[in-house]
Amino acid sequence: MSVGGIFGAASLRGENVVGIVLEGLRRLRFLGSDCAGLAALMDNKIIVRKERGDVEEVRRKVKLAELSSPVVLGHTRFSTHGRPYRDNAHPHLDCDNEIAVVGDGAISNYEKLRDELVMRGHVIRSRSDFEVLAHLIEDEVKKNKDVVQATASALGRVQGFFSFAVLSRDGTLLAYTTKKPMFIGIKEGAFYTISSSKCALYGYADNYIEVEGDEVAVISGKSLAVYRYPDLAKVEKLPKRLEVAPNLVEKDGFPHHMLREIYEIPYAILRTLSTVQERYLRFASHLLARARNIYIIADGTSLHAGLVATYYFTELAGLSPIAVSAAEFPLYYIENVGPGTVVIAISQSGETGDVIASVYEAKLRGATILGLTNYVGSKLAMFSNLYLPIGAGPELAVPATKTFISTLVLLYILALNAGSELGRLDKREVEERVRTLHSFADMLLSEIPSIDRSAESVAKELVLCRGGYVISRGITYPIALEGALKLKETAYVHAEGMEAGEFRHGPVVLVEKGFFTIFIVPVERRAAEATYPLITDAHRKGATVVTIGPREEMSFKNVPGSQIGLPTIHRHLAPMLTSIPLQLIAYHLGGLRKLPIDTPRYLTKAVTQ
Ligand code: F6R
Repeated sequence: MSVGGIFGAASLRGENVVGIVLEGLRRLRFLGSDCAGLAALMDNKIIVRKERGDVEEVRRKVKLAELSSPVVLGHTRFSTHGRPYRDNAHPHLDCDNEIAVVGDGAISNYEKLRDELVMRGHVIRSRSDFEVLAHLIEDEVKKNKDVVQATASALGRVQGFFSFAVLSRDGTLLAYTTKKPMFIGIKEGAFYTISSSKCALYGYADNYIEVEGDEVAVISGKSLAVYRYPDLAKVEKLPKRLEVAPNLVEKDGFPHHMLREIYEIPYAILRTLSTVQERYLRFASHLLARARNIYIIADGTSLHAGLVATYYFTELAGLSPIAVSAAEFPLYYIENVGPGTVVIAISQSGETGDVIASVYEAKLRGATILGLTNYVGSKLAMFSNLYLPIGAGPELAVPATKTFISTLVLLYILALNAGSELGRLDKREVEERVRTLHSFADMLLSEIPSIDRSAESVAKELVLCRGGYVISRGITYPIALEGALKLKETAYVHAEGMEAGEFRHGPVVLVEKGFFTIFIVPVERRAAEATYPLITDAHRKGATVVTIGPREEMSFKNVPGSQIGLPTIHRHLAPMLTSIPLQLIAYHLGGLRKLPIDTPRYLTKAVTQ
């Protein structure tokens, strides 16, 4: 499975388009840079060249620029499951080299389909789900269908969240997406291009059309057509003028990767849900249900996700894991570690020094390590007895945003499965809650832009403050800690995350003009009722007060100061939802202070020492 950038081109004049596709892939490196490859139609055959590495490295290693073809399809990959090896790089071919496929996302029922295809005699060369798609299309082509009909029939077999493109030996290029739009560029009389990002079309298209969920775009000869899946009825699309700021091309039109990654959160959630394979989830739940004791170890943002998970495991599975900083774990908890202990180690990078050292020590004592990481080629993935991929896709900004939400999603479904394994939840309830996560992702697609606008105006109020508190209680208490961390690292402002019950036990003395207090209204009713008076109190003392809470509730509507109103959702999703305005406030405050948002001083994406 993989996240990836897709770029293809077809010349209308028979000219070589390899250079265009290579430049397109270079611009899409923010979607992945573990592996890259091209499929080119040459002498009536599909030639595939691919390798491990960034597109520039791969270009040199396998001499991509030596290829010459009027129809080319390319990919740049980020591994979310199959490791970053040559065989797992895209494009993938079917058995007869008739079909090349590149993809982004995950086919969730891939393991079952793979086993079936192998039983039917297909030769599968990789651990990539998109190879399975090439073979499914092959089966349909053999039934005398054209590539469009064959792809539509193959789609009937696959589930998940993905986009893909196909190059067939007859020169047809095809693109399909379940949800995340793809873009077809039109350079009048010259060529068509296919891209995962509109901005990557810059210079190669005057106009474009957007391929939306369940649409199939087909470029064949000189024609371009869009069909609706599954009935293949033609869809009329009016091309739009392509307007892209050249300096933002490599960030998908956003000024910073951090903002781009926050806007990607809905897709990251869907990726996580499609990436994690049921058989590994079952295995992990089985381990947890039988554990003698459970520790969750992580640092920074990942530790905050681990703290939220303690609520999930307690409420949904009746388990009581201890979440602790990976640096602290070997000093105070290691004596209780032995056979029967399960250590859930969380690290988006999979390289954090304290996490790896603790995992090593726990393993020596006989513990079972369950690793959660966004990088399948990382040390954590290698040292774990079992690892579950976070599957958020690459995160380039140092401040973690979408990986945090995806980690929460993964921990939540793990706790749900553990609850089912322990007989506390029935299978139907687990499925229902997973469906809710899908609708949550859909809801975020429309909510994030308005949260962003509110966060930007809040940031303008906070810019004059010297520091402040982020306060909550219950399941969103760890989000107060996370919000404070985001403010520190992104906006260089002192902020302290606090449990609301502690506020009056000392911290209140700092509250005055020039100080901010950001409250996240707790989702637990009793805790919410106890928090509202603190908001009024902080406001009366002259602080700049911001409240993040349920926009439908009267008590929220009446709070003094600024508000960021959010929709009411299931209480277990509140940590995911409430962290988004805090990420955006930190982002805009960093922007107002003209800070290097994606690369804060002294920090690196993985703290390995
Ligand atoms: C915060 C941040 C850090 C990391 C921490 C752990 O935005 O990026 O606090 O969360 O260094 O990193 P991982 O998850 O890679 O182990």
